[in-house]
Amino acid sequence: MKIAVLPGDGIGPEIVAQAVKVLDVLKSDGAKIEMESAPIGGAGYDAAGDPLPEATLKLARTADAVLLGAVGGPQYDALDRPLRPERGLLRIRKELNLFANLRPALLYPELASASSLKPEVVSGLDLMIVRELTGDVYFGQPRGIEIRNGERVGFNTMLYSESEVRRVAHVAFGIAMKRGKRLCSVEKANVLECSELWKEVMIEVSKDYPEVALSHMYVDNAAMQLIRAPKQFDTMVTGNIFGDILSDAASMLSGSIGMLPSASLDENNKGMYEPIHGSAPDISGKNLANPLATILSVAMMYRYTFADLATADRIESAVKKVIAQGLRTGDIWTEGTQKVSCSEMGDAVVKAL
Ligand code: IPM
Ligand code: MG
Repeated sequence: MKIAVLPGDGIGPEIVAQAVKVLDVLKSDGAKIEMESAPIGGAGYDAAGDPLPEATLKLARTADAVLLGAVGGPQYDALDRPLRPERGLLRIRKELNLFANLRPALLYPELASASSLKPEVVSGLDLMIVRELTGDVYFGQPRGIEIRNGERVGFNTMLYSESEVRRVAHVAFGIAMKRGKRLCSVEKANVLECSELWKEVMIEVSKDYPEVALSHMYVDNAAMQLIRAPKQFDTMVTGNIFGDILSDAASMLSGSIGMLPSASLDENNKGMYEPIHGSAPDISGKNLANPLATILSVAMMYRYTFADLATADRIESAVKKVIAQGLRTGDIWTEGTQKVSCSEMGDAVVKAL
């Protein structure tokens, strides 16, 4: 298995280094994996004048899976839009056709007090958000800023074809089948035609999955319900922009955005794996970041692309163990636990493995 390692910007290199330590352990235990690194985001711009350099895309195409850190930083904010780090991320998702983004939100019991919600609201939380990743207002045409009637107008297009909705629906129903068999489709069909079609297609696809209970919720209500009573949800499926927002909200239920991994899959389960958090320029280079979301992304890689559930479980158990031991990076630290650095956390996971 060939893994393209794309550390990116900010804390990306620090957290990815910890995940690579984990992969090195698996390798020394006999896993047949090969890793190759390449720059993306601001690092891609610095190295090759492009947030997704040709060579990086080529490596990602030939790899079986991609491990990504994070992209972006204030030093790149003034660049022309197509050269900005985020564009590199959006392009690699699109180029590799990674349309299904899986974002789990899971609460480790020991971290209940790190959540901003009351422990009884979040304890036992285990929710999966399936976010469509290559369509919607993120990619719809036309888009732009132009002069109309003597003033500037900005515009984007929210657009989904039924085939785009159908393929992500199948992924979501498939995942719901392996979980609690409840799927909540989130849209804004009371206002948007795009959402009306989304909902219709979800209902059509549900006929293939009679065991799954499909429900529908408007996105504003879903945002409220996630904060009010998040345990009502098992699996959620939603479009690109709604999923972007709801998954950040859901991440906080689990105590820290630094704990949550993600998988972005194509039709054949080739995937890109990344923490859902960003490049955190404020703490980058200080060895303070939480590497657990990236390490858990490696577990997802084993689960979804390599279909090696035993290794996925092994990595997840190692993470549970270090949490149970009381080790905490700053983002999840609470009184009475032991504060550790990014690399110390990585070492502890390696030891637990
Ligand atoms: C995410 C991020 C990205 C997105 C940004 C960095 C382009 O917020 O992965 O959720 O909006 O998809
Ligand atoms: Mg986001």
